Amino acid sequence: MVMKMLPLGEHSDSFLQLVERLSMASTRRRWEAYRDVGWDDRENEVHRDDPRWEAQESWDPLATSPWYRDQSPETRSAIGLCRHARLLKVGIQFEAALSQGLLGFAGRLPNRHPMFRYVYHELAEEAQHSMMFQEVIDRSGFDPPGCSTEYAELFRQLVDLGEDLPALFFLAVLSGEESFDFIQRKLCASSSTHPLIARVSRIHVIEEARHVSFAQAYLRDVVPRMSRREIRELRHYGPVILDLTASHLFEFTGAPLVGFGMPDDVRQAIADDPRGRTIRRASMARVARLCDELGLIDRRRPDAGVTAD
Ligand SMILES: [Fe+2]
Ligand SMILES: [Fe+2]
Repeated sequence: MVMKMLPLGEHSDSFLQLVERLSMASTRRRWEAYRDVGWDDRENEVHRDDPRWEAQESWDPLATSPWYRDQSPETRSAIGLCRHARLLKVGIQFEAALSQGLLGFAGRLPNRHPMFRYVYHELAEEAQHSMMFQEVIDRSGFDPPGCSTEYAELFRQLVDLGEDLPALFFLAVLSGEESFDFIQRKLCASSSTHPLIARVSRIHVIEEARHVSFAQAYLRDVVPRMSRREIRELRHYGPVILDLTASHLFEFTGAPLVGFGMPDDVRQAIADDPRGRTIRRASMARVARLCDELGLIDRRRPDAGVTAD
């Protein structure tokens, strides 16, 4: 792929003003993993037979699987906790790639550029998020391996995009943040969510709103001034990124659930379940709308996937 992006210094005043407002918001409203979560509070204790870990229908297609429903309540809770641990592990892997890409992006900024401060606020926030996620994983007792080999390679490629192709980088970042945000909003909205995961999710949703705002504004600022060839390339890779992002949090790579004896055909049935596809599309709806607004969706393409109506 050959794509020459706009020089990083060329941005509209309104975008740069937003960046400064987001930086100010980061100093006023922020959380720390080991200051603002009551890890040792009694209500936050993690027990794998706690029914509040059970898979929730609003975001997890596992919840309605007949195989899952046939398990004992204790096993359903343990599987649900294992799913949470895996999700958070993937979150850490994504945030690690995102952070490395952000460092590369910031490294190209000229002195006195307002984005430098914002990007480092975002980096500091991601570090706190990953510490929260790892603490929950450690308390779960599970050892989730995280994402599949295929996605690990995609995360590695994401790192380089931060420096080389920032528009594509922020599109991928936005997709990843939106999909995670979708799940955590569902968790926050449910009264049956375990209080520890509810607390961690709430903090994450609030802080990620700034990251989402930044990525959306960045794309709105740079895409309209790109050349037709650059737009064509974004249109080519954008839907692929959205499709891949829409799946990675929901995939059953097997390893985390092997201990529970989930048969391969059950795993496949859940992956193919139309309700799961509806959830995946919903998780990408906001970023798909932005792509549409920016003219990045070619509806004639047969692989329009989650971006198609
Ligand atoms: Fe985060
Ligand atoms: Fe983020």
